Amino acid sequence: MSHGGPARPLAARKSGPLTGVADVPGDKSVSHRALILGALAVGETKITGLLEGQDVIDTGRAMTAFGAEVVRHGEGAWSVHGVGTGGFAEPADVIDCGNSGTGVRLVMGAMATTPITATFTGDASLRARPMARITEPLSMFGARAVGRSGGRLPMTIVGAADPIPADYATPVPSAQIKSAILLAGLNAPGQTVVTEAETSRDHTERMLAGFGASVEVEEIGAGRRVILTGQPDLRPQTIAVPRDPSSAAFPVCAALIVPGSDVTVPGIGLNPTRAGLFETLRDMGADLTYENAREEGGEPVADLRARFSPDMKGIDVPPARAASMIDEYPILSVVAAFAEGRTEMRGVKELRVKECDRIDAMATGLRDAGVTVEEGEDWFAVEGRGPEGVPGGTKVTARLDHRIAMSFLILGMAAEEAMMVDDAGPISTSFPIFEELMSRLGASFEDAA
Ligand code: S3P
Repeated sequence: MSHGGPARPLAARKSGPLTGVADVPGDKSVSHRALILGALAVGETKITGLLEGQDVIDTGRAMTAFGAEVVRHGEGAWSVHGVGTGGFAEPADVIDCGNSGTGVRLVMGAMATTPITATFTGDASLRARPMARITEPLSMFGARAVGRSGGRLPMTIVGAADPIPADYATPVPSAQIKSAILLAGLNAPGQTVVTEAETSRDHTERMLAGFGASVEVEEIGAGRRVILTGQPDLRPQTIAVPRDPSSAAFPVCAALIVPGSDVTVPGIGLNPTRAGLFETLRDMGADLTYENAREEGGEPVADLRARFSPDMKGIDVPPARAASMIDEYPILSVVAAFAEGRTEMRGVKELRVKECDRIDAMATGLRDAGVTVEEGEDWFAVEGRGPEGVPGGTKVTARLDHRIAMSFLILGMAAEEAMMVDDAGPISTSFPIFEELMSRLGASFEDAA
């Protein structure tokens, strides 16, 4: 479900130094996948550190609707009693995936090769997002889809009774497309193959292998080919969800731009398919260090320490890095406003079809806050103001997008005048403790109704 309720306007004003330790919640991508693969295994999967954000809760509800038993045992501690590959039951009602593109797309894939019918919907943001990128490859398995014009939700998927495995090259680098195909391939006989020209986040491949599926990965240039052998018996797992680098981005970036700050964000996954922002910040001259680098659950993990960095310089962000930091461009553009010189972000067309058009949302809000921004269809560039600082002092529309809301609140912590967002509600989709965590570090928020 969407956050529902009335809009919750919130303001953030210039903050004193941010200091301390920020324990960010579990990774959203991994949390969705743990619930879905748990539902497709036979027996009980145990999960700790699950993100209890609305997006993930909605995926848990969807799994219940398809016949799995999803139980909360305590904070972040959940179990899923799965029904086995091909064992999904037909849901009795419409599946509401709320704000979550990942949720709806992965679940569509997971049910598309089972002979059942399901209808999906979501909030106004999700109903505006393209689904043909998922239904087109799913049709190769024999699934049918009927939705609104432009391939929008609400949409009904009729799962294939005799699925045929697919061999598909993704037209855009997207872990959601790749994952939907792999999940559909689970219940097709033979080999399902997905090829991507640029490597997107690989949590699905890693987790499928952990559940006992046969997954081969071949590197091809900057991309990879993933080959899944269908109809495996997935074995239930015990999954410790790592902390989310995309959530860590907010306290890290806030510390870099708020004078006097020194913040540590422990235990952050640095899987190379996710860590592009941190490399980029270091290229800009950020005082960002990795401490206690280690491995946890097969993933590289470190404690991130971010200190106020008044000497950051604008850079050209390598387009090849886009997939590994696709959700981080909004907050990067805020940091860029405080750096000296121009930061160009190219090859980022996908930002136009996220929870909102993120290039337009950031360009509009940054300009209102006194920053010069140029944009084209697949790029935008921020003219950093360096020691001049950012005026701020404006109200922006979050457009039902959690990352837009958080980005402008962070801007408000370092700008001359406070920044307001019209609705902080969507933040609960990915980072329900954002306000509490940032306040503990020293940020100050005010209701701005
Ligand atoms: C996600 C993939 C990304 C990202 C989203 C989460 C995932 O989308 O933007 O927030 O968990 O697979 P695309 O893969 O479509 O770029």
